[in-house]
Amino acid sequence: MKFSIAPLKALAALRSDALVVFVHQPGSASGLVEAAAVDAVAAEAVHDGDFSGALGTTYLRQRPAGVGARRLLLVGLGAAPVSAAAWGKALAAAAATLKGLGAAQVHLLAADGEASVAELAPRAFAAAAYRYTATRTADATPGWRVQSVQLLARRASAPLKAALARAEAMAAGVALTRDIANLPGNHCTPTRLAKFAQELAKRHALKVEVLGRAELQRLGMGALLAVAQGSAQPPRFIVLRYDGGGRRDAPHVLVGKGVTFDSGGISLKPGAEMDEMKFDMSGAASVLGCFEAIARLRPKLNLIGLIPATENMPDGGAVKPGDVVTSLSGQTIEILNTDAEGRLILCDALTYAERFKPASVIDIATLTGACVIALGHVHSGLFSADDALAEALLRAGAQAQDSCWRMPLGDDYAEGLKSNFADVANIAGRAAGSVTAACFLQRFTKAYRWAHLDIAGTAWKSGADKGATGRPVALLVQYLLGVAGA
Ligand code: BES
Ligand code: MN
Ligand code: ZN
Repeated sequence: MKFSIAPLKALAALRSDALVVFVHQPGSASGLVEAAAVDAVAAEAVHDGDFSGALGTTYLRQRPAGVGARRLLLVGLGAAPVSAAAWGKALAAAAATLKGLGAAQVHLLAADGEASVAELAPRAFAAAAYRYTATRTADATPGWRVQSVQLLARRASAPLKAALARAEAMAAGVALTRDIANLPGNHCTPTRLAKFAQELAKRHALKVEVLGRAELQRLGMGALLAVAQGSAQPPRFIVLRYDGGGRRDAPHVLVGKGVTFDSGGISLKPGAEMDEMKFDMSGAASVLGCFEAIARLRPKLNLIGLIPATENMPDGGAVKPGDVVTSLSGQTIEILNTDAEGRLILCDALTYAERFKPASVIDIATLTGACVIALGHVHSGLFSADDALAEALLRAGAQAQDSCWRMPLGDDYAEGLKSNFADVANIAGRAAGSVTAACFLQRFTKAYRWAHLDIAGTAWKSGADKGATGRPVALLVQYLLGVAGA
């Protein structure tokens, strides 16, 4: 799908398969002289009671008089002022209607919302167009036929073009993340995850390094190795680098949980919905998606991606409840529950991050079921002791329509992680499970500014629409562009 900006001229002269016009409630006039014919259709539709302009409602007219388009699609924005969230909903409604149509060439007109449409349309349209194909031979779902989308604007200004480019890059990152995260465990092994990173590095001339079991042993990543020891698939530790900043600029680091299947290990999970634990590498997939977007946009910053990748399986050599292992940090960990494996692989990656003297470290993980209970599928859980970093991530999430919600940390929560046999236990009680998990990670992050995103509730959907969402790629890219001053 190609996105571009085209000059707004008299609509009678337009040649289009579908003109999409965003309309305020109650179906009010655009005030554009060029769009008088559209205003006339809107007035008729409102008069006849077929359209109100309420947020997310649509009205479709074939061969509208005075408009050079085969179809005119009115999309309601609700009452002014229109929030970013409302623009997101209106664009999603437009995309949903277009999905059933034969239109290949589409034009968008938003009288006072050009900037918002540029910022959000590529992502909304890409989301509607997305299809998982990797392991399907026949596809029953109707195809997306839109090939070109032109935003009609008074002027193709530089900020408008930049917003469009940003959104297209984010959409590409989200799509890559969804493609990877959707792959089943027998396809997306730790080795395959590393290959995705190598392919990405090749595509965009990035640096990549992949460590195997022997190197992890030499380094002393005892926590990651403990999780990996019950699986026939060898672990991988992936290091990706994008150097867009100055040589001496401290890099930002993203750490993604890459458990390619989480059976729970010896602390085996119940059978119901266990298939969804193929999504337990969504954090890793989101790091790769971020690199896809950043590599396309080439902002001035240095970025490092770290992905500890392993299965969590229960074979005869598997780590057992009560086992004590030594992490890369030197801290010993009593593994009381082998299903709390995410924090084990992340703690070694977080210690590894110290060597880069980073400007910030953000880990992204489908870490706890408790986070789903706390926040549902709306916000990702955000944990950080650094107020400025937390604020920046909250702002980026709101702006990118990929929100997170700040959760607490603190010694009172960390209390439950005490062990009689090691420096720390890998679980506390049932209470505040997402917080105690974050407290465990925090012990390994003393050397830099750190934030943790628990995406257990936001990385994928269950039910009829089961599949990866690509979150929180947009949030992270927005944050990184912010720190790069782009
Ligand atoms: N990958 C899971 C977290 C998860 C569960 C994500 C359900 C999405 C949906 C993680 O490894 C896990 O198993 N966490 C345990 C921790 C517990 C043993 C302290 C959990 O949440 O039950
Ligand atoms: Mn688990
Ligand atoms: Zn897990």
